[in-house]
Amino acid sequence: MRKKIVAGNWKMNNNLDETKTLIKQIKKGVKKQIGDDTRVIIAPSFVNLNTAIKRTKKSEIEVAAQNMHQSKNGAYTGEVSADMLTSLGLNLVILGHSERREYFGETNELLAEKVTTALENNLETIFCFGEVLEDRKSENHFKVVDNQLKEGLFHLKKRDFSKIILAYEPVWAIGTGETASPEQVQEMHAFIRTTIANDYGGEVAEKISILYGGSVKPANAKEIFSKPDVDGGLIGGAALKADDFVAIIKSI
Ligand code: PGA
Repeated sequence: MRKKIVAGNWKMNNNLDETKTLIKQIKKGVKKQIGDDTRVIIAPSFVNLNTAIKRTKKSEIEVAAQNMHQSKNGAYTGEVSADMLTSLGLNLVILGHSERREYFGETNELLAEKVTTALENNLETIFCFGEVLEDRKSENHFKVVDNQLKEGLFHLKKRDFSKIILAYEPVWAIGTGETASPEQVQEMHAFIRTTIANDYGGEVAEKISILYGGSVKPANAKEIFSKPDVDGGLIGGAALKADDFVAIIKSI
């Protein structure tokens, strides 16, 4: 059985005090609610990771970083390495978020390097990808997604590929309030699973968790999560309010 996952991407939100408060509220909300088949992940900013790790230690909540540099170390002012993350006790990282691709010029090639570095350092990777509106309008969305997967991930060996969690996030649905319909999500997730099966075999494809991201809210989570190829969500805006995030977790 694939794990169900609800992950909150906090982006550039929450100072130290706000981080502590939100963690406390989420912990209270999910206490004894999470079954063995479900994972809850939060991704605060780099500077608050250490606090987040300490404050979630005895809970069901896992902590992820939102990004990481591809190099081992060196003269890269302002950057954070995989080793810095793992030395905090962290074992999860988000890579390829559309905001990283759009505002920081992260390409499929660069992401392929980052993924390799993450896995070499035993960082399980939540790999994000998805088409922009023009791709969808011109019916190129399957091609774009296929390319993002192949160029960003398909260099991995079978063994490593199973340490990836996928997050399909159509860019037109991120932070816009516009959600892809449950049918559009299912259609794309099924396509993604088939694409993986073609290269890595059915067994790998069946085991990989594919999350949906893009304006997931308590009101629409249940329907999206009920689709057979949807294994959870990557939540942005609604992950910043404990009540909403907990409601989304419960709806899985
Ligand atoms: P959103 O963000 O839920 O605010 O649309 C999702 C994401 O960026 O991962």
